[in-house]
Amino acid sequence: MTLTRPVVVGAGVDRVDGPLKVAGAAAYSSDITLPGMVHVALVRSTIAAGRITRLDTGAAEQLPGVLAVLSHHNAPRLAAGPTNNLGPTPPPPLQDDRIRHHGQYLAAVVAEKPYQAAAAARAVTVEYERTEPVLRIEDPAGELRTDPFGMDATRGDAAGALAAAEVVHEATYVTAENTNNPLGLFATVAQWSGGRLTVHDATQWTSNTCQTLAQMFEVPESAVRVYAKYVGGAFGSGLRVWPHVVLAVLAARTVGRPVKLVLSRPEMFTGIGHRPNTVQQLRIGAARDGGFVAIEHEALQTVAMDDENLEPVAASSASAYACPNVATRDRQRRLNIPCPGSMRAPGEAQANFALESAIDELSYLLDLDPLDLRLRNYAQVQPQFGLPWSSKALRECYQVGAERFGWSRRDRRIGAMRDGRWLVGYGMAGVSYLWWQVHCEARATIGSDGTGYVRSAATDIGTGTYTVMRQLSAELLGLELDQVRFDLGDSNLPWSPQAGGSGLTGALGNAVHAACRELIRTFLRTVVNDSASPLRGCTIDDVAVSGGRIHHRADGKLGESFVAILARHGLDELTADGVSDPPDPQEVGMAPAGAFAAKFVEVHVDPDLGLLRVPRIVSVVDGGRILNEKLARSQIIGATVGGVGQAILEETVTDPRTGRIANANLGDYLVAVNADIGEIDVTFVGEPDQLTPLGTKGVGEVGLPGTAAAVANAVYHATGKRIRSLPITIDELL
Ligand code: MOS
Repeated sequence: MTLTRPVVVGAGVDRVDGPLKVAGAAAYSSDITLPGMVHVALVRSTIAAGRITRLDTGAAEQLPGVLAVLSHHNAPRLAAGPTNNLGPTPPPPLQDDRIRHHGQYLAAVVAEKPYQAAAAARAVTVEYERTEPVLRIEDPAGELRTDPFGMDATRGDAAGALAAAEVVHEATYVTAENTNNPLGLFATVAQWSGGRLTVHDATQWTSNTCQTLAQMFEVPESAVRVYAKYVGGAFGSGLRVWPHVVLAVLAARTVGRPVKLVLSRPEMFTGIGHRPNTVQQLRIGAARDGGFVAIEHEALQTVAMDDENLEPVAASSASAYACPNVATRDRQRRLNIPCPGSMRAPGEAQANFALESAIDELSYLLDLDPLDLRLRNYAQVQPQFGLPWSSKALRECYQVGAERFGWSRRDRRIGAMRDGRWLVGYGMAGVSYLWWQVHCEARATIGSDGTGYVRSAATDIGTGTYTVMRQLSAELLGLELDQVRFDLGDSNLPWSPQAGGSGLTGALGNAVHAACRELIRTFLRTVVNDSASPLRGCTIDDVAVSGGRIHHRADGKLGESFVAILARHGLDELTADGVSDPPDPQEVGMAPAGAFAAKFVEVHVDPDLGLLRVPRIVSVVDGGRILNEKLARSQIIGATVGGVGQAILEETVTDPRTGRIANANLGDYLVAVNADIGEIDVTFVGEPDQLTPLGTKGVGEVGLPGTAAAVANAVYHATGKRIRSLPITIDELL
């Protein structure tokens, strides 16, 4: 059996969960209400470093409705959570009197009503012994960690080649701290009953939340069940088990009632990660003809005092372009800040701005078109491994993008293009996104009524997993869309990795593929000696599936339905499991390719007022095989909007004296809204990737990087002002 020509798959099928969401019938974790449920409010530190000298909960405990106040005085010691592919679990809360950052949880109040919990939280009094916080990325008082990910790359002799290069561009690029702002406030509902724990959570990874809570609360994994049926966005902030989840579980155990904890928007800024700010040094050496001879990329980012964030920044510059001499170095500075974490295209969002700005700057030094310069240095093979890519259509991305955008209409002179009083700029950037895939499991069933049921513990964070996996299951089982159910968001289902790193569609799709194939094999084994079956003795390579039937590949009439096989053998259903594991690049002799993209951006700048508008963005993406064109396009549009936010609006501002985040709300933290966004054009190019049976490459994140660099490059083209820091603000354009 091979994949037939995509009929169901590929189609722009509407989200299967769309009607539920529009009708308010999709229950996010904050919508879960259980009988007898009580509520948690949090007390947070108002200093960034030091220790608690006095924490008085007496007044709070006397207030109406209050059931318990947890603090480091009475909270039990909790075991550390596991270390996984994203690093260690964040340290458990309320374990000692040390203050590591402003906004750290110091107490959790449990009360009958949410307003009672909130009032009592305000009645908790805290006194501190304050020490000087370390808050700035350049502050030498903060520990500097070299090569924290063990991913620093070298190829050839970058320093030597730079010293001998005909043309060298060297500059420092700075990106601001940004905060994930999913619409859905993170919420945890926790219930203990008879030693068993049930949790509804806004997580991107139910399997991990289950394992982590089991380990921290020292109960077997089989006693913990984590649901995340719907998640109102996350963008990376739901990848880890943050302290508020642990507090909800602890509170539920303490009062012996189900509890709900919903973070407030300000709490979302200090408790669920954020994109770390960076300072990046780029040195690129080139020959006069434009060929790169050396790239050096050194990136410094921030990290919290007692936690980790696995976010390589400079590392990706080793594989973006053909260049014989490369050195990348990542560094982290420990600060008294809430722990940074993944935020859509973690690392790459910052690195791409620096690298693609630097290449644009170099193009002016060389007097070459910036697109030509990229094509001259195109990495035809994966430059770090020296292996052919499993797929790469970046050249097509550039070509199709230039055409759709009208790049040839660009007047190369700075400030030469105008639209009335507005200066017009054209800028572009290339994107080589990372490849990431890990182990995943799925299970497939066909019942006596002939319908399919496929499932995995995976999550759909709004990206369309329910929909594409149902499409895929339908195609693989030869059923119609409405004959298949796809279930997810439940840790009791087969183990799944996180919806993250743009890796879930690949990992889960391949596991679903394996499970569905195994299910067809199970049907064939059932009839292997069945003289009544036209499929007797067939192997999976002899057959195809369609219309609820298995039939001979060569003769569609010769076969029978799932229903007939089950009925004749007296079976209610057949079930099979499938797993997928990432291929080993050396074994397959190919470098696994992530998605590629080219971004072309038009900006308008008002030279008198410094106003910056982005009326038009063209994105061309090589995402391998696209399972659902409509949803993939939505992913790219959404990520591009996030890229505009990074480019011109988003900045988390920390008070340099107190460590308090000064704009921890959606009034003061600016995200792109409709009025900020013009025309967004999205095109997919390329072929199914060769590495996996499905040929998909993730499209969740590739839409974001490239946007900020292309905007900055367009701003330079319009104004002659080279802005090397994000976000680009009005004052810099005056
Ligand atoms: Mo993503 S930032 O890997 O959810």
